[in-house]
Amino acid sequence: MPGQKVYIFDTTLRDGEQVPGCKLNTTEKIEIALALEALGVDIIEAGFPISSPGDFQSVHEIGKVVKNAVVCGLSRAVQKDIEVAAEALQSAKRKRIHTGIGTSDYHIKSKFNSTREDILERAAQAVKWARNFTDDVEFYAEDAGRTDNEYLARVVEAVIAAGATTVNIPDTTGYCLPHQYGEKIAFLVNNVRNIDKAVISCHCHNDLGLATANSIAGVISGARQIECTINGLGERAGNTSLEEVVMVIKQHSTLGYYTDINAKQLNPLSRLVSDTMRMPVQPNKAIVGANAFSHSSGIHQDGFLKDAQTYEIINPEEVGADGSKIVLTARSGRSALAHRFQKLGFMYNRNDIDVLYEQFLKVADRKKEVGDEDLQGLAHQYQERA
Ligand code: KIV
Ligand code: ZN
Repeated sequence: MPGQKVYIFDTTLRDGEQVPGCKLNTTEKIEIALALEALGVDIIEAGFPISSPGDFQSVHEIGKVVKNAVVCGLSRAVQKDIEVAAEALQSAKRKRIHTGIGTSDYHIKSKFNSTREDILERAAQAVKWARNFTDDVEFYAEDAGRTDNEYLARVVEAVIAAGATTVNIPDTTGYCLPHQYGEKIAFLVNNVRNIDKAVISCHCHNDLGLATANSIAGVISGARQIECTINGLGERAGNTSLEEVVMVIKQHSTLGYYTDINAKQLNPLSRLVSDTMRMPVQPNKAIVGANAFSHSSGIHQDGFLKDAQTYEIINPEEVGADGSKIVLTARSGRSALAHRFQKLGFMYNRNDIDVLYEQFLKVADRKKEVGDEDLQGLAHQYQERA
């Protein structure tokens, strides 16, 4: 496989499940965890064990059934949280504790009523404590997106010295622009002693619709793990969408990165998560939306029918989608109409299509979408008049 690997850390079952109404039971979580493993994710964040007995149980049960992926449990930088996460993860073959604390001045002053020095100390202590239970410890600097870079670098250096093997730089509020997030990662790469001892991870939220762009900017600057969710689910406007970052990396392979994701599973898994969480996918969602491979305007349909690549950069089969769709609307042209008639078994010449097109437009102006039964009706009327 050419290039450098980008690890995919899926947090659908933790950050994604924080969406109101998306709560899952243990059986549902196990089904999704197994599907995530089959998809090829490297790390599955299974939950936040101290948050409830149900979440503890889910993490524990997922740990029993997942074979290859690392199973991760979240904790605050609090000894008891870390111990409970470690206990829940006892069943896992490969386990990671994800611990951390807010590092922006908003968090330090408003949430913790504390000081930068105290937070730095608590961060390092939490990582040291977690290392008593596993060699795989990830530290998150919550609200790193709005944390002063010099201070963030000191925190990251301290947690690496304390034993963190992955350092997560969350843009918790989805605040950063891609160049700012990229510069933040580059700053850490260039200013933190022993940064090469840890994997830098991007964890971006989508409040400004920039989570995917920010994660990719982070990778280009040196991060090698992306935290993401299926369908981009997550608090408020969501997290980075797994299917988007995976396909950006695949489409732009010349950037020199790859993931181990089996892209053919992306659409089936999107549907499983949407159905299980009872959360519909927006139709225009990239890669997995119902319209991601639909063409409805005449200009696009004509180009697509001559060569699919004119208007599609991804073959729908590559991502397990049902296939490209030509939707007939009042914006459609003659070539799409002729193509659909042909699929229905009606072989019309140019003159026939000219006449039928006028009738088609009348139907199309009345309806949002013209269906096969409408076309059959038009064909029938045309035959009767002939
Ligand atoms: O968005 C965030 O900062 C988080 C952390 C808990 C990792 O989800
Ligand atoms: Zn988050």
